[in-house]
Amino acid sequence: MSRILYIALAAVVFVGAMIGGKAFFLDDRSNIRKTGTANIGGPFQLTDHTGKAVTDQDYAGKYMLVYFGYTFCPDVCPTSLSIMGEALSLLEPAQLDKVVPIFITVDPERDTPEVLAGYVPNFHEKMVGLSGSLKNTKAVAKAYKVFYAKANQDDPDGNYTMDHASTTYLIGPDGQYVAHFSHGSSVKMLVDKLAEVL
Ligand code: NI
Repeated sequence: MSRILYIALAAVVFVGAMIGGKAFFLDDRSNIRKTGTANIGGPFQLTDHTGKAVTDQDYAGKYMLVYFGYTFCPDVCPTSLSIMGEALSLLEPAQLDKVVPIFITVDPERDTPEVLAGYVPNFHEKMVGLSGSLKNTKAVAKAYKVFYAKANQDDPDGNYTMDHASTTYLIGPDGQYVAHFSHGSSVKMLVDKLAEVL
């Protein structure tokens, strides 16, 4: 009898712990999501590929599809930007009107507005190429939590490369994070998500 009572008591304690644990877990999750969304993206001061000084406010009211990279990138950037361009070309005109595709260079020493002007239209006619001072580049990458660093700096011809994160961010018209696409996301994944929110 006392053994049955003990088992019953243990079961009550166990179920209680499960419910308590689950509620605790859900709270934790929602907190992480809230903090995460608020922490990606933010203000920036850069120059577009036409030479015009721009800030994030110039794109307020539009969705921004943001990718960080550099034009000398041998394959990662062209692949990601091609996927972005292809996805954009599959949107309805009304959807396309709501989104600004943005390429931000992490290599502003080589990627001047002129260089970007010869690069971004290869991927989509609407694509904007942004560059800035080293300080402002660092600031915008930090805001988007994008890692980058110069590599192969001992190359005899001075042809250094850049290590950089390869994530595409979707930012809402209010400047808030909406979604991100990790490297290797397909055209369909982008189109599906864009069609869902636009
Ligand atoms: Ni790249």
